[in-house]
Amino acid sequence: MTEKKLIEIKNLQKVYKGRTVLSIPYFAFEEGKSYCLIGANGSGKSTLLRLLAGAINPSEGEIVRHINEKEIVYLPQKPYTFSFSVKKNMHMVFPAAFPLDKKNEITDRLLKEVGIDFLRESKGNRLSGGEAQRLAIARLLALPHKLLLLDEPSSATDIAGNELIEGALKRYCAENGARLIFASHALSQAQRMADEILFFAGGKLCETGRTEDLLHNPQTDELKQFLHFWQG
Ligand SMILES: Nc1ncnc2c1ncn2[C@@H]1O[C@H](COP(=O)(O)OP(=O)(O)OP(=O)(O)O)[C@@H](O)[C@H]1O
Ligand SMILES: [Mg+2]
Repeated sequence: MTEKKLIEIKNLQKVYKGRTVLSIPYFAFEEGKSYCLIGANGSGKSTLLRLLAGAINPSEGEIVRHINEKEIVYLPQKPYTFSFSVKKNMHMVFPAAFPLDKKNEITDRLLKEVGIDFLRESKGNRLSGGEAQRLAIARLLALPHKLLLLDEPSSATDIAGNELIEGALKRYCAENGARLIFASHALSQAQRMADEILFFAGGKLCETGRTEDLLHNPQTDELKQFLHFWQG
């Protein structure tokens, strides 16, 4: 049985100042699967997430979304936080007509879930890097969506923070029937969170497949080299 396609990428090229930084002839993200994007710095992971989010446009080719854009939400690699309180940072994601008691309830639950409820009254711009990342995730999970595009969602958090963020993402996916497309340098995170991996090298989609197959039975020299120092 073939899975239903969620997003198709066709003849995609992204070019900056004459340099092709991403090139994907064809790829289909399927419904019901989560995907991890891996690859060295500068290999094109964030560029692909920005393109999928519609934050930038392809230089050539197209991205066909078989999902309503409103069902997609995107977390950039450098999450922003506003200078007002953590609580207000959370409240601002809700539509104006959203009942206040529900805003408070969801805010409390999510801040606890990511372990920063004690910072509720702190200013968003005084948070540490890992605290800001936890807040950005909590904000992202406040409303229901079907597809989360996450650019290194736990790159700044400590081990306990990673566990909380992964737990919150898993709970959210189960509750909302949502799936993830995320970039990560933590291959163990890919193992825990992704059904499939896309490996990028030099802006090319070099190898794809089921997470365990790809990590334990790499086919290309590029991926073999990339995994060389990994003790999986
Ligand atoms: N706006 C831009 N203008 C010019 N070059 C860019 C721009 N955005 C990205 N690039 C280049 O495109 C390439 C891919 O960048 P990208 O951010 O997608 O890499 P990445 O795989 O996410 O890397 P990292 O692991 O460091 O986050 C890099 O060489 C980067 O310098
Ligand atoms: Mg990146």
